[in-house]
Amino acid sequence: MSKLGDKYKAYFPDSHANFGQHGEFDELHALWIQDNEWDNGGDVPRLIALMLNVKKAMADGVQGAFAEVGTYKGNSAAVLAHYARKHDRMLYLFDTFEGVNIKPSEALKETEGIEFNDTSLDAVKSLVGTDHVGYNIGFFPYSIPPGFENLRFAVVHLDADLYEPQKAGLEFFYPRLSPGGLMIVHDYYSGSFEGCNRAVDEFVKATGANLILMPDKSGTAIFRKSAYEKPTPESYLKLSVDYYQAKQFENSIASARKALELRPGYVQAYINLCAAENALGRFAEGKKAGDEALRLDPNNQLAKNNLQWSVDGVNKK
Ligand SMILES: C[S@@+](CC[C@H](N)C(=O)[O-])C[C@H]1O[C@@H](n2cnc3c(N)ncnc32)[C@H](O)[C@@H]1O
Repeated sequence: MSKLGDKYKAYFPDSHANFGQHGEFDELHALWIQDNEWDNGGDVPRLIALMLNVKKAMADGVQGAFAEVGTYKGNSAAVLAHYARKHDRMLYLFDTFEGVNIKPSEALKETEGIEFNDTSLDAVKSLVGTDHVGYNIGFFPYSIPPGFENLRFAVVHLDADLYEPQKAGLEFFYPRLSPGGLMIVHDYYSGSFEGCNRAVDEFVKATGANLILMPDKSGTAIFRKSAYEKPTPESYLKLSVDYYQAKQFENSIASARKALELRPGYVQAYINLCAAENALGRFAEGKKAGDEALRLDPNNQLAKNNLQWSVDGVNKK
């Protein structure tokens, strides 16, 4: 068995060695290993996988911003920032920028106590830059700024090691990935971070998203959304329910209407529309949607309840 820190020889991709398609490699490699030679010096496969996949997503015209949860010294962020600037996208970084407490239950090995604290916001800014880069300081997901939920993403890198932020990152970003969007999860099968592995496995079970593994040091895994996935009435209804639960009622209404465009007479969409209009105090609009739901399905108890809520609201006004 080879030991931690052992290296092996590997070829560069032909596209680089024979065809010179990655002229940025030397510059990005220098950023990749700056002040982090031990972690990243032997992890060229991870760098190349990141480069190839981000470049392919950009070549495919995938829309949206870039984001990273877990930035540490900024080595992976500097690579992402290069492509974000090149393609005029914003890169949003999330970290405390002063380390986190790695609980013993989370890290199976020697890591305990505060980790990743040999960095600072200033150091990261000087490596990654500020052009096309937004810094969100604090504990993810609590550091998500207002309005951020309305963005869409082309490339997301989740590298926060622990169960809670990785789970929150998957749940927040995956529904906001554009068609063809890329989600790269570090440490999925490194063996050191059981929580990261569990968060991903639970997410795959719950969503059916497709996971591909990379042969790098710490077990990166990649999701890529289909570029050709057509939105369905069900997917819009799910979005509408999610927005309702997040108390984003205008977005919930817009998604329910999209579901109805694709499937007129979709009872559940009318029910959700009714509830979201009621929640905004627009009871007459709610009543219209509730009436329609009940016309289509006279015995539907949820439709009756929501309609009653509308009627009560109209009468109170
Ligand atoms: C492995 S390092 C990231 C390495 C970096 N992506 C790279 O490849 O160069 C993990 C980072 O996640 C951050 N982190 C962990 N949990 C977090 C949370 N809940 N909120 C913000 N940052 C968190 C830590 O502070 C640490 O900087």
